Amino acid sequence: MKNIVILISGGGSNMAAIVRASQKEDWASRYGARVAAVISNKGTASGLVFGKEQGLDTHVLDHKTYADREAFDAALAEVINRYDTPQAPVLVVLAGFMRILTAGFVEKYAGRLVNIHPSLLPAFGGLHTHQRALDAGCKFAGATVHLVTPELDHGPILEQAVVPVLPGDTAETLSARVLTQEHRIYPRAVAALLSNK
Ligand code: GRF
Repeated sequence: MKNIVILISGGGSNMAAIVRASQKEDWASRYGARVAAVISNKGTASGLVFGKEQGLDTHVLDHKTYADREAFDAALAEVINRYDTPQAPVLVVLAGFMRILTAGFVEKYAGRLVNIHPSLLPAFGGLHTHQRALDAGCKFAGATVHLVTPELDHGPILEQAVVPVLPGDTAETLSARVLTQEHRIYPRAVAALLSNK
C-alpha cells in the first residue's frame, strides 16, 4: 500500500478534498494507495481536527522549536520516512504548507513531492498571489499543481485551473473562487501520479 503524507499549516481544505476523493474513488483498490498521515507545522491548524476525525495519523512539528531550517526539515523527514518503504514509496503532498523546504529535503523526495500554488505559475510565485493578480489587472487567475523542485514555486506543472477575475473582486472573493478549483484539480493530479499517468 502506497502511503500519502499530507503537510498542512492551516485549514486543510485541500487535504480534506484529497482524503474525500481517496475514499469516494477507492484509491486503495484502484491505486493501492491511502492517505496515511497529516503533518502540520502549527498545532493550531484546524485541518488537524479533520485528520483526526478521519482516523489519520496526525503529527505536529512546530518549526519554531527547531534551531534552523535544516533541523526542522530533518525532523520532518524522520516522520515522513516512517511511511516510506522500498515496496511502498511515500508520496508527499504539500497542501497549504507555509514553510520553505531546504534543497536537501526536496531532493530526497524528488518526483514524489507535490505542491498546489494559488496562481497560474509561472506568474505570481510566492505570497499574496490574489492581491498581486488584482493589482496587475489580470482578467484571469487560477491555481497550479506542480512537482516541487528546490526553486520556490517552480517545477514541472501537473495541472492548472483558470477562473475569471470579476468586477469588484477582492483578494478574498478571488481566493474563494480559486480554492473551489484547487479542490477539483489537486485530487485529480494526485490520482494521476498514483496511476503513473
Ligand atoms: C490554498 O489556496 C493553497 O493553494 C495555498 O493556501 C491555501 C490553503 O488552503 N497555498 P487549505 O489549507 O488547503 O484550505
